[in-house]
Amino acid sequence: MRKIIHGDCIEGMHKLPAGEINLIIADPPYNLNKDFGQWKETEKKGEWKDWCRSWIAETHRVLSAQGNIFVYGIHHHQCWVQCMMYEAGFVYRRQIIWTYENGFAGYGKRSLNAHYEPLLWFSKSNDYIFHPIREPYKSQERLKHKIIKNGKIWIPNPEGRMAGDIWRFPVLAGRRFKNEKVNHPTQKPLTISRRIVKHFSNPRDTVLVPFVGSGSECVAAAQEGRGFIGFELNSDYVELANSRLRELDNKAELPII
Ligand SMILES: C[S@@+](CC[C@H](N)C(=O)[O-])C[C@H]1O[C@@H](n2cnc3c(N)ncnc32)[C@H](O)[C@@H]1O
Repeated sequence: MRKIIHGDCIEGMHKLPAGEINLIIADPPYNLNKDFGQWKETEKKGEWKDWCRSWIAETHRVLSAQGNIFVYGIHHHQCWVQCMMYEAGFVYRRQIIWTYENGFAGYGKRSLNAHYEPLLWFSKSNDYIFHPIREPYKSQERLKHKIIKNGKIWIPNPEGRMAGDIWRFPVLAGRRFKNEKVNHPTQKPLTISRRIVKHFSNPRDTVLVPFVGSGSECVAAAQEGRGFIGFELNSDYVELANSRLRELDNKAELPII
């Protein structure tokens, strides 16, 4: 299935059967001051927490027994979301720190700039889908010599070390990303989206994207040979996401699902 639905994600998810989705990537409004057209954060502050509880409950219902859910957020407010995830019955796996060196959120001269966003990973059970992530070893030089650890010879894995919970992916700032960046205020990079899709779902799964925005998670799902179902309130963003998907189809980079 490859489908983006113009409409509210809580109503949309309510119509999906229980327990059939293996991966959910949720990038909701963070309760800051962004204007997403239909959803203006400044107008929603009073209801944000109750609203989060409602969409989180639906994600818990539709997630499969082996399923994973990732939720983006911001350091001020992600604590609320994390508590709600526990209360909904999800199993905590990790708070991933997504850090970047090519951008920051500034808070004035008497504060600290933020160079990261917290990304929550929860699962439905302890039997969750996980395809290990490996990265190049930091020191390649060290690998040229025999390494003894606790009296035993340690042999490096040819695919690299296991990834940790600090993920370094640049934000879409500057000329480097001019081909990827589109007209959406909070577009996520395809690099991080593809990592989540590839390692936390199985090929040909359908990824659920409650907050489509410019469609990054849907594009990443298609690039990784998965289907997707997404919801978005703003019709301009639905069109934006669909145009990115058409462009991808034209490049014929993806398998048909
Ligand atoms: C943080 S953005 C998602 C950005 C996306 N990850 C990307 O890379 O472009 C959140 C999106 O959720 C949409 N949205 C807000 N409330 C919604 C709702 N109840 N149902 C569906 N979409 C909603 C907003 O219009 C906005 O585009």
